[in-house]
Amino acid sequence: MLIEGNSALVTGGASGLGEATARAIVERGGRVALVDMNADKGQALASELGDAAVFVQADVTSEEDIGAAIEKAEQLGPLRAAVSCAGIAWATRTVNKDGMAHPLDAFAKIIQVNLIGTFNVMRLCAAAMTKNNPLADGERGVVVNTASIAAFDGQIGQAAYAASKAGVAGLTLPAARDLAKAGIRVLAIAPGTFDTPMLALLPEEARQALAAGIPFPQRLGAPADFAKLAVHLIENGYLNGETIRLDGALRMPPK
Ligand SMILES: NC(=O)c1ccc[n+]([C@@H]2O[C@H](COP(=O)([O-])OP(=O)(O)OC[C@H]3O[C@@H](n4cnc5c(N)ncnc54)[C@H](O)[C@@H]3O)[C@@H](O)[C@H]2O)c1
Repeated sequence: MLIEGNSALVTGGASGLGEATARAIVERGGRVALVDMNADKGQALASELGDAAVFVQADVTSEEDIGAAIEKAEQLGPLRAAVSCAGIAWATRTVNKDGMAHPLDAFAKIIQVNLIGTFNVMRLCAAAMTKNNPLADGERGVVVNTASIAAFDGQIGQAAYAASKAGVAGLTLPAARDLAKAGIRVLAIAPGTFDTPMLALLPEEARQALAAGIPFPQRLGAPADFAKLAVHLIENGYLNGETIRLDGALRMPPK
């Protein structure tokens, strides 16, 4: 898929991995609808990117919000890429040290945003993409979702987060199969530990310990590393139905 001249909808586009992906798409001549709840950061980035970008304040779990965001994206050019980076983190043990069970509403909230939100964006964007003219190879669009290595090696306290991300990894192949006839590819990236505002919530000591556990390169991932892979997945028309780890060979220990 050629990025230049086409539009992409990027959720979580105001921060971290989504922001870096939006910047990379614009650098390649694409247009971006930045979809996020954070209006201050989203609007600031859209103004910086100029005519190539628009900010849409939207909740990924809302059908109405995402429908409106798709309309905005289509005003910038044919919507041929959807990148889902919106997500939230949460850590609590299934039963905590005081014997309290994991709050069910917290589990449901993580699934709602990370899994159902991602699916909501994918299904609505894919439906819009089916109306695109096929390119020479029959391709109409591409969806790139964000899982996590927690989908495969979730740590203590990550039952909800890991379940949400395993759901994102799990839907990749069946969605690619569902959308094959329409010429729409579906992929997921499973990042390791990346230096974004999400990770900045951890104390510096904990961030350094995380970096020290990465075989090579022994550093946290940079948002630009993620963006490079995201644009490659958009551009490489033979990649489909796969979740790709991007983690410097990190395999997370229990804690
Ligand atoms: N940073 C990491 O180490 C890491 C590792 C693995 C996976 N991930 C995943 O990568 C994605 C991006 O994470 P990040 O590190 O860039 O985080 P981030 O907090 O910097 O960015 C996430 C963005 O999503 C937005 N968002 C949250 N809920 C939303 C909703 N309901 N609707 C619309 N927007 C919403 C936030 O406002 C924020 O701007 C997330 O899905 C995260 O789970 C991150």
